[in-house]
Amino acid sequence: MPGRSEKREKPSASELQGLRRRCEELSASVESMRAYYEDLLGSLQDGIIIVEPNGHIRSINQAAEELTGLSAQMFHGRPFEQIFPNDRSLQELVRKTMESGRTHANFDARLTRQDGSQVVISAVSSLISDGVGQARGTVLALRDQTGIRELEERLQRSDRLAALGTVAAGVAHEIRNPLAGLRGAAQLLEGEPDFPPALREYTSVIVKEVDRLGAIVEQLLSFATPRGPVLRACNLHEILDSLFFLERAPLGAANVTVQRQYDPQLPDILADPSEIRQLFLNLIRNGVEAMPGGGDLIVRTRYERSAKRCGGRSVAVTEIVDQGSGFDPEIERRLFTPFFTTKEKGTGLGLAICLRIVEDHGGAMEATSLPGRGSRFQVWLPLAKQPETSSPHNEPHRTAQGVRP
Ligand SMILES: Nc1ncnc2c1ncn2[C@@H]1O[C@H](COP(=O)(O)OP(=O)(O)OP(=O)(O)O)[C@@H](O)[C@H]1O
Ligand SMILES: [Mg+2]
Repeated sequence: MPGRSEKREKPSASELQGLRRRCEELSASVESMRAYYEDLLGSLQDGIIIVEPNGHIRSINQAAEELTGLSAQMFHGRPFEQIFPNDRSLQELVRKTMESGRTHANFDARLTRQDGSQVVISAVSSLISDGVGQARGTVLALRDQTGIRELEERLQRSDRLAALGTVAAGVAHEIRNPLAGLRGAAQLLEGEPDFPPALREYTSVIVKEVDRLGAIVEQLLSFATPRGPVLRACNLHEILDSLFFLERAPLGAANVTVQRQYDPQLPDILADPSEIRQLFLNLIRNGVEAMPGGGDLIVRTRYERSAKRCGGRSVAVTEIVDQGSGFDPEIERRLFTPFFTTKEKGTGLGLAICLRIVEDHGGAMEATSLPGRGSRFQVWLPLAKQPETSSPHNEPHRTAQGVRP
C-alpha cells in the first residue's frame, strides 16, 4: 500500500510535463477569455458598470468612463453609492436588483457627471449569477438619451409648426382681400372733393395700419407655405457681411457694434442664400432689440466635423451672442412657437421662420440664455462638401458649448 501511495505522489516526468502543458493551455485560454470579454465590454456603446454583492464597483467599460467623466481607476473597489451620491434612481435600481434578483429599468434616469452637469439616461440593471443561481453581482447598463430627447422635441415642434402652418395659411388667405378693400376705401375717401382735410390724419392711420397688417400676412404666408430652399454651395461669411452692410444704418442708430469672429478656414455651406440671409437677419434684429441701450453683438463661426445633431454631417456653426437681458426658462420653452412674442410690435414669427429655414436645410438651432450677460443663438448648417470619412461612428463627438442638458 505505501508503495501505491508513493506512486501517486510522485508522477513521472512525462506526466509532469503533460500537466504543466495543460496548465499553460488553461491559463492561456483563461487569459484569452479575459481579453475577449474586455474587448467585448470595451466595444459596447452602452456604459457598463459591474457592482459586487457588497455594493462595491468591480469594473466599468470605456463607454461608462466617457459617460460619467470618471476613469476606471477612480471607480475600482469603491462603493457605488460613494461614486454616485446624487443619483438616487441608479442606487435604487442596483438595490432592487440585488434584493429581488430581477431585472429593473429606468428609462428616464439622471446621471451626474464628474463636472456636475446632468445627462438623461436609460438604465437597466440585471443580476449576474453563477451556475447554481448564487448572486455574483449586478450589471448596470447605461445609455445616453440626450440625442433621442432632442430628436423627440424637434419632432414635436415640427408637428406643431405643420399644424399651425395650415391654419395660418387659411387665415392669411381670408384676411388678404378685405385688407386690400379697406386700404382702397380709405384712399377713395381721401380723394373725395369734399373730404374734410382734418380727417386725413385718420385715413392715413388706416392706410398705415393696413400696410402693417399686410406685411404680417405676407410674413405669415411665407412661413406657412414655404417654397423650399434651392440649395447650392455658398460662402457663409459673404452672406453675413452683406447683411451687416445692409443693416449698417439701423445697427448704428441702435448703437450696436458687430464683432466678427470668423473661422477663416470655414468651407462653403450647402444653402439657399436668400433664406440664410432671412435667418440671420431675424437673429440679428432680435439681438439688437434685446439691447435697447446698445452694446456688442458677437458673430462667431466655426467648423464642426461629424455633428451629431445633423446626422453626423460636417457643419458650419454660427453663434450670435448679444448682451441683452437673456430670457427665463418659461420664455425659452416658447421661443420657437409661432406668434409667441414679448414685444409690443412683434409678430412672434421671427424665430419660427428661423427654425423652419434651418430644418429645411438639414441643420439645427438652439438658444441659450446667459443670465445677466445676454443670449446666444447657435445655428448648425451642413457643409457643401462632406469629408469622406465623416461618420458618427468613427469620429469623436465634440459637445457644443452651451447645449441644453
Ligand atoms: N436675443 C434675444 N434675447 C432675448 N429674448 C429674445 C431674443 N430673441 C428672441 N427673444 C424672445 O423671443 C420672442 C420671440 O422672438 P421672435 O423673433 O420669434 O419674435 P419677435 O422678435 O417678438 O417678433 P418678430 O420677430 O416677428 O418681429 C421675443 O419676443 C423675445 O421675447
Ligand atoms: Mg424677432
